[in-house]
Amino acid sequence: MTQQKLRIGLFGYGCVGQGLHDVLNSSKGFKADIVKICVKDRSKKRRLPMENFTYDKNEILNDESINLIVELIDDAEEAFSIVTTAMKSGKSVVTANKMMVAKHFKELFDLQKKHNVSLLYEASAGASIPIIRNLEEYYDNELLYSLRGILNGTSNYILTKMHNEGITYEAALKEAQEKGFAETDPTLDVDGWDAKYKLCIITGHAYGLFLEPGEVFHYGIRNISDFDIRYAKEKGFKIKLVPYVGKTNENTITSFVLPRFISSDKYLYNVDNEYNGVITEAAFADKQFFSGKGAGGHATGSAVLSDISANSYGYRYEYKKYCQGTVSRYTRDYKLEIYLRYKDEKERELFGFEEVSEYFSGKFNKYVIGVINLGRLYKLRDKLNNMDVFIVNTGRKVDQK
Ligand code: HSE
Repeated sequence: MTQQKLRIGLFGYGCVGQGLHDVLNSSKGFKADIVKICVKDRSKKRRLPMENFTYDKNEILNDESINLIVELIDDAEEAFSIVTTAMKSGKSVVTANKMMVAKHFKELFDLQKKHNVSLLYEASAGASIPIIRNLEEYYDNELLYSLRGILNGTSNYILTKMHNEGITYEAALKEAQEKGFAETDPTLDVDGWDAKYKLCIITGHAYGLFLEPGEVFHYGIRNISDFDIRYAKEKGFKIKLVPYVGKTNENTITSFVLPRFISSDKYLYNVDNEYNGVITEAAFADKQFFSGKGAGGHATGSAVLSDISANSYGYRYEYKKYCQGTVSRYTRDYKLEIYLRYKDEKERELFGFEEVSEYFSGKFNKYVIGVINLGRLYKLRDKLNNMDVFIVNTGRKVDQK
């Protein structure tokens, strides 16, 4: 296929926008012109001459010589407006905006068909790990049992620093912010939203279901304490924030985001700092493990460049799993074994443990390990961050009968 000459209109010049600029400048063989960059903040000092920038999005959107929009801004709703306007006027788009894609997944899918344009978003999940294209191309006919991993660089960075160096949660978060890993609102990282948006996008390509993010349970690392880290260390585990999606039967999947104990013989154990990792388990390919930098300007910029390049050759996602339609149901009726650190017995009762295998009651902390139902956990979702508890998925296989 011949390569189309690319004239790019770029939205956003933050960490990822600048990362992309560096990556593009270093890619000798690849020719693409960034015609204009639209930014919001007039007071920020820019490292390029001002004639490269505009504050008016229409200057890019109405420019017929621009044939590709690259959207790298922070605000998901504004991004949605830019991206849909571009698509409706026949321009293809590359974006890294996970919240936008996850929240408007089906609509964006429909718009691609209707206006015969392409929307690529490899950078939105796992940054430098090419997981979306792998799911589309390599796993198109594979019977995928499950996919799990680490999809948020910031929380992984915090957990790594707490575990390996004994640094406080607050200090580690500050470092992650300084290094440009965290979202502008870091609660998106530490409370598991960001990992969930990425999981929803991955689910669209792994199983062909466009999940409503609100339907998926997520819980992050905000309430982790020294006690939890100590417990994990004593048992030889690390705690990682692990999104999971998997089949419960032929046509049904379940998914959730929860911290998880990882033992030293597991792939994810050594996925540290801002690195991400994804494990797929499939009928024929068996277990596979992908790892790479999951946050940061250059890592994310490299995935954006790969999409820009793919676009220039006319690549589009075919949404093969959606077209096959084998998976049609989503369930939260799923049993999990968790560790619950808590203080108040009344709070523990809310979890409705179906079985308990371990119980500890100390002067300051108690914990219980046992089986609960994901549906019940989901009902507690708005209360959990305000309770003096911490939850970790033990990862043990639970009999679902
Ligand atoms: N804040 C995100 C993370 C950036 O920490 O993973 C990459 O999507």
